[in-house]
Amino acid sequence: MRTKYENLKTIMESGMVLIIRTDSAEEAKQVAQAAVEGGVKALEITMSCANAVGVISYLAEKYADTDVVVGAGTILDAETANTVMLAGARLLVSPNLNPKMLEIANRYQAVTISGALTPTEILNTVNSGADLVKLFPAEFMGPNYVKTVKAPLPQAAIVPTGGVTPDNVKDWFAAGCAALGVGSYISKAHKKDGDYAKVTTAAQEFVKAIATARA
Ligand code: 3PG
Repeated sequence: MRTKYENLKTIMESGMVLIIRTDSAEEAKQVAQAAVEGGVKALEITMSCANAVGVISYLAEKYADTDVVVGAGTILDAETANTVMLAGARLLVSPNLNPKMLEIANRYQAVTISGALTPTEILNTVNSGADLVKLFPAEFMGPNYVKTVKAPLPQAAIVPTGGVTPDNVKDWFAAGCAALGVGSYISKAHKKDGDYAKVTTAAQEFVKAIATARA
């Protein structure tokens, strides 16, 4: 089994976590697989997906011997954190500060991304031992907000989530973000015509935009 630090390194190096929020379990699996083909290395299956635990378990097994990090999102309580860990999740994400999730994830050495918005929330999240701070909802704050809060809080590894597209990747990294939380641009790219190749293409666009932004 890969260590937490290997998984964290993969997330940091790839620069993005794909958030998958779909109506059916089959769709979630198809999106995940198409995105991995396009270069995505970290998957966050949200608990609002149908049979999310089954999807996590399927993907954790499928990618067990690879560097793809399978995770769970919208973890709101200890019971859910425990359940997804047992299903094979190695990345736990919450929209808010959820100390029980952090405790369970740390016990089993899963990577954590914990939601925060204000400087107080960001610092509380760092103090609580989360690996990464999910700035959510990021589209209302913008890259300048990250730049401003990182002046007094440079230790916060910020992952903006909400409204991230290939067009603004450069701005988020220039502001000092550690990685990006990406949802609909990739995970809903197939919606119009059911063509999952569009998910792969959207993922490739992000991989390219991240490489360009970091060059
Ligand atoms: C989510 O919770 O689905 C995220 O905020 C994703 O946002 P996005 O679809 O705007 O990337």
